[in-house]
Amino acid sequence: MSTPNQGRLHVSFRPSDRARQALDGLPGPVTCAAEPSGQDRSELLSDVRGAAALVCLLTDRVDAELLDAAGPSLRVVANMAVGHDNIDVAACTARGITVTNTPGVLDEATADLAFALLLATSRRVVEADAFVRSGGEPWSWRPDLFVGLDVSSGATLGIVGLGRIGLAMARRARAFDMRIVATPSRSAGEEAARLGIETLPLPDLLVTSDVVSLHCPLTPDTRHLIGAKELRLMGPGSVLVNTARGPIVDEAALATALADGTIGAAGLDVFENEPAVHPDLLALPNVVLLPHIGSAGRATRDRMAMLAIDNARAVLAGEPAPTPVHP
Ligand code: GLV
Repeated sequence: MSTPNQGRLHVSFRPSDRARQALDGLPGPVTCAAEPSGQDRSELLSDVRGAAALVCLLTDRVDAELLDAAGPSLRVVANMAVGHDNIDVAACTARGITVTNTPGVLDEATADLAFALLLATSRRVVEADAFVRSGGEPWSWRPDLFVGLDVSSGATLGIVGLGRIGLAMARRARAFDMRIVATPSRSAGEEAARLGIETLPLPDLLVTSDVVSLHCPLTPDTRHLIGAKELRLMGPGSVLVNTARGPIVDEAALATALADGTIGAAGLDVFENEPAVHPDLLALPNVVLLPHIGSAGRATRDRMAMLAIDNARAVLAGEPAPTPVHP
């Protein structure tokens, strides 16, 4: 039996040592970018020419221009991310190119960070830290100093998008004795029932929840899912956490809502025009801002890279991809 022609695999970033070892074990040629943060667009368009596989980052836009640059040799695009809104999946499908992502290996790390944002915003951790460091005001214990939301005394968490990461967030909330509500989900099943999660339509969830945490993918349906109207439904004192994708939230509306007290606080790991952050958000004390580090656990990042490489390897070897995004 003949071995399918392997072709060249291009990695659009500098892989970790562990990922490098896996790449070294592949039968075909491999090229890798020099920087761990990825490549300039023009460099990527040039390096992808004639490749059979592309292992890429969520910051790489995989569109018709890139597919044209790659040419007909390209058989698989393996995103090192669970979200794949950076990839024109329809254009890939039309050209017979398999698209894969990395589901299941980053759920716990991402939920850890979402819960860290929930606690940091609810209990005003970053604001209070800045206050102590500023040394500006002498302070002593007082009943009204940095008072925030009681998380474990019956606060309600609203999960928008009850997939794997949403469920991992719910497990953490259960350990904190929170009431948990979520938007309807086809995939939640038995675990949602075991965790006692109540299902509510989005407007009711927004009204009911003290903290709303977003875990849905970015699609045309979820772009600006949370805008001025939804923030008004959340109400004063409530908290928004977004570790999913920035454009799910209307960032200008969020900045206004945080400034005028429509909602109490927000914890954001993702931004509408990443890496740019709305300037009004930068000036507000009641928002915690992180540079898209949801899955940034050491072992998690290795698992993501290994799964992306394995997806590319499988397609080049003529095997089914372990985690394709195609329906
Ligand atoms: C990170 O944002 C991912 O989609 O994996």
